[in-house]
Amino acid sequence: MELPLAGLVEDLRRYLVGQSVPDTLAMIADHFPGKASFSTSFGLEDQIITHFILENELPIRVFTLDTGRNFQETYSTWNKTLLRYNKPIEVFAPQRDSVEKLLQEKGPNSFYESIENRKECCHIRKVEPLQRALAGQKVWVTGIRAEQSANRQHMHPAEWDAGHQLIKVHPLFEWTWDQAWAFAQEHGIPVNPLHRQGFVSIGCAPCTRAIKPGEDFRAGRWWWEDQAAKECGLHATTPHQGFDPVVEQVPA
Ligand code: ADX
Ligand code: SF4
Repeated sequence: MELPLAGLVEDLRRYLVGQSVPDTLAMIADHFPGKASFSTSFGLEDQIITHFILENELPIRVFTLDTGRNFQETYSTWNKTLLRYNKPIEVFAPQRDSVEKLLQEKGPNSFYESIENRKECCHIRKVEPLQRALAGQKVWVTGIRAEQSANRQHMHPAEWDAGHQLIKVHPLFEWTWDQAWAFAQEHGIPVNPLHRQGFVSIGCAPCTRAIKPGEDFRAGRWWWEDQAAKECGLHATTPHQGFDPVVEQVPA
């Protein structure tokens, strides 16, 4: 009989204390053959995890959600990654019908108009494709780090994801930005050139800006929304806590 997955989370948390990233990934690959996936948005953290998976030829599926609204620099980083490792990266794109309907009914920039519209766009371009990507999987590996936001400091390196009914593992959870940057430089890992221009957390182009010194890592994401509870739905664990758009900052 198979053990209930959720019951493994506590054991996993204990096991992960002090484990290196490659050992964590190797353990996941061994214990969940064909059932472990890593999602990449080609940000610094994801590039490091991709490096460990592809360089060591670990049987963990690497996939990306191509929202169709990414920066060209993100697509360049994706391309460089393919050239560097010569391994496949699976792609999940939004459903064509849903995108056509959204654009037809609300135009191309509806996400600036209300929280509902923003969530609708994120749902169509990210959340629904993610559901398809994770169907049947047991472990979802992400590049989340505790330092990224106050919200994420309350997360754990291994968690039960009730929505997707799988275990989420964040192998870089304890890493700092500086540590990740130094590692990428040392190992010649391709990094998104936007990181050198003040973009730390990078999502879709219309919804991401550079941050200023001293700002929160995620301050440049959906910057017109309430700073406390911004998540796009991929990692949302609590309902959004209100919305106070600073409309004059929003490009028309
Ligand atoms: S988000 O929820 O705000 O978009 P964030 O950009 O911080 O998430 O990224 C956290 C992790 O979510 C990444 O390390 C990656 O594992 C996953 N992720 C985010 N965006 C994507 C994407 N477009 N494709 C695949 N994975 C993604
Ligand atoms: Fe749409 Fe912006 Fe969400 Fe991307 S981040 S899916 S453009 S609302």
